[in-house]
Amino acid sequence: VKSVLCRRTYFQCVHKYVSPLLSEKENLSEFGACYTPHGHGHNYTLDAYVEGQVDSVTGMVINLRDLDLALREAVQILDHKHLNFEVAAFKECIPTTENIAAFLYSSLKKTLQNYPVTLNRIRLYESEDLWVDYFE
Ligand code: NI
Repeated sequence: VKSVLCRRTYFQCVHKYVSPLLSEKENLSEFGACYTPHGHGHNYTLDAYVEGQVDSVTGMVINLRDLDLALREAVQILDHKHLNFEVAAFKECIPTTENIAAFLYSSLKKTLQNYPVTLNRIRLYESEDLWVDYFE
């Protein structure tokens, strides 16, 4: 029997939106309050959906302890960081919810290669009323 399991985790980081391809005026007009010299923080919520066979002995697709470790490993690169300044992946890539979701998906997918599940999709909430679903 196959099953999709979802686990939620939380992290915090700071970002600002600025594109080197746009002038100061264009950046301001495109990004508004998100275009600031120092940035601002969010409490992100990450839902990871993993898919696998339910083990006939344990009744689980993956041990939650292992899943939590994998999630922690993916998220800790971003947690309590200023994404634009401290995370290499966002030095030249605007840390929008879309781009952060893509980054987390590929990190988590890599980490989960050591486990008997595949990453089905992730959902990344920047706030209660804004989120991105990312899947292949
Ligand atoms: Ni923001």
